[in-house]
Amino acid sequence: MREHRKCQTSAASSQALICDSNQSKSLMFMMILRSISVLLILVGSCCSLDNGMMRTPPMGWLAWERYRCNTDCRNDPENCISEHLFKIMADRLVEDGWREFGYEYINIDDCWTAKERDSKGQLQADPDRFPSGIKALADYVHSRGLKLGIYSDLGNFTCAGYPGTTLDTINIDAQTFAAWGVDMLKFDGCYSNSTVKAIGYPKMSAALNATGRRIAYSCSWPAYEGGLPPKVNYTLLGDICNLWRNYGDIQDCWESVVSIIEWYGNNQDALQPAAGPGRWNDPDMLLTGDFGLSYEQEKSQLAIWAMLAAPFFMSNDLRTISKEAVDILQNRLLIYISQDRLGIQGKRIMKSHAIEMWKRTLVAGQYAVAILNKATDGMPTPFQTSLALMNILDCTLGYDVIDVFAKKNQGFFRLNDTIYLRVNPTGIVLLFIKPGC
Ligand SMILES: *[C@@H]1O[C@H](CO)[C@@H](O)[C@H](O)[C@H]1NC(C)=O
Ligand SMILES: *[C@@H]1O[C@H](CO)[C@@H](O)[C@H](O)[C@H]1NC(C)=O
Ligand SMILES: *[C@@H]1O[C@H](CO)[C@@H](O)[C@H](O)[C@H]1NC(C)=O
Ligand SMILES: *[C@@H]1O[C@H](CO)[C@@H](O)[C@H](O)[C@H]1NC(C)=O
Ligand SMILES: *[C@@H]1O[C@H](CO)[C@@H](O)[C@H](O)[C@H]1NC(C)=O
Repeated sequence: MREHRKCQTSAASSQALICDSNQSKSLMFMMILRSISVLLILVGSCCSLDNGMMRTPPMGWLAWERYRCNTDCRNDPENCISEHLFKIMADRLVEDGWREFGYEYINIDDCWTAKERDSKGQLQADPDRFPSGIKALADYVHSRGLKLGIYSDLGNFTCAGYPGTTLDTINIDAQTFAAWGVDMLKFDGCYSNSTVKAIGYPKMSAALNATGRRIAYSCSWPAYEGGLPPKVNYTLLGDICNLWRNYGDIQDCWESVVSIIEWYGNNQDALQPAAGPGRWNDPDMLLTGDFGLSYEQEKSQLAIWAMLAAPFFMSNDLRTISKEAVDILQNRLLIYISQDRLGIQGKRIMKSHAIEMWKRTLVAGQYAVAILNKATDGMPTPFQTSLALMNILDCTLGYDVIDVFAKKNQGFFRLNDTIYLRVNPTGIVLLFIKPGC
């Protein structure tokens, strides 16, 4: 979704089709027919997206938030959407240690194709910006021990106006991506309506499977349908996609991050059960290392994304990123929490004034708890809690409590011992809680 140029998010998409009561009966009939054909398509694939991929939330780098549709390689050769940019970021992921932390995807977003398909009807990369082609780029990325993600759009055009994937080109595009050695597809939803989406997203899932190549599948579908039941069926999404954008595009500012956090918190009863190994809610890219967030705010985003079991796709410049930003993106305990193999998404368990508390259940009786302070006034807010108040009661002996960003053990706490915290304005304290039993 590319409608929001200003630093604000909104769930609304100009693409979303609202089926109002004035629509004709023949249209309803057509939609029923379409639904039946959707069901028929699904019969073949039955129970789950069984491609074995993304058993923990994916990690890597995705171009969009930082580089957008910058195609001006003449004047901005180091930052334009080109094979050069993706190769450089692949080099950085390997040489600066990111890959060892799990950041393994290098993902292309919109604006990589030529303005027209080739004579065989296949998508083709822009010949000036990708002179070696996507296959060569995939080979390069693989040679560095990384994976390549690509982007397409279910619709007449991509959001930025490049050739889209229409229902009749789904199979050919899936085959093209597989032949190039692509490892992941982000499938956007501009320039199509709800009927086309209800057919096209499952159809692409089946088409990717039919290629025989394991290609992780990111569906923007729910974000175009308001992100919530009954319009969005998360059981179905889990059956056909590995991850999905639920909400509007993130922008490089705190207001955007807060609006996303609030939306996921307010709608957690619908969203939290949808997530699990191989099937993730995606609140969009990480902003750490960009321009709009303070250091405190960067930590807040990272911690809540870890609580949400969200994908960790950075969208930044790994050539110039600060030491502080590297430190928090490569925080081992943060990544351990984010990658917990149970894959249970955390929930907001308390909200009072500017403070909210999030809790995520981890393997081996462990927990992560995050205390976020959305206040913007002056000084760190004192906050007292206890394991009992967090409803962490299984190990009656007590728990070690570790401050993840401070990298400090706060001590061993019995269930009713008071835990004293101070939470910085627009900041967060992320606790890793380990049983003494
Ligand atoms: C395709 O789907 C089948 C059935 O769900 C699954 O066993 C197989 O691993 C899938 N193949 C790929 C390449 O995703
Ligand atoms: C896509 O193109 C078709 C065929 O030209 C047209 O009927 C349809 O309205 C277009 N859809 C959108 C959302 O632009
Ligand atoms: C949705 O788009 C398709 C293809 O462009 C078109 O045939 C159909 O009439 C549209 N449906 C609605 C409900 O607008
Ligand atoms: C949601 O999708 C699942 C799987 O396809 C299906 O069994 C279920 O009936 C759907 N639920 C609704 C409310 O349509
Ligand atoms: C904790 O405090 C509650 C309420 O004051 C009390 O019922 C409970 O027994 C205490 N638990 C422990 C382990 O001390």
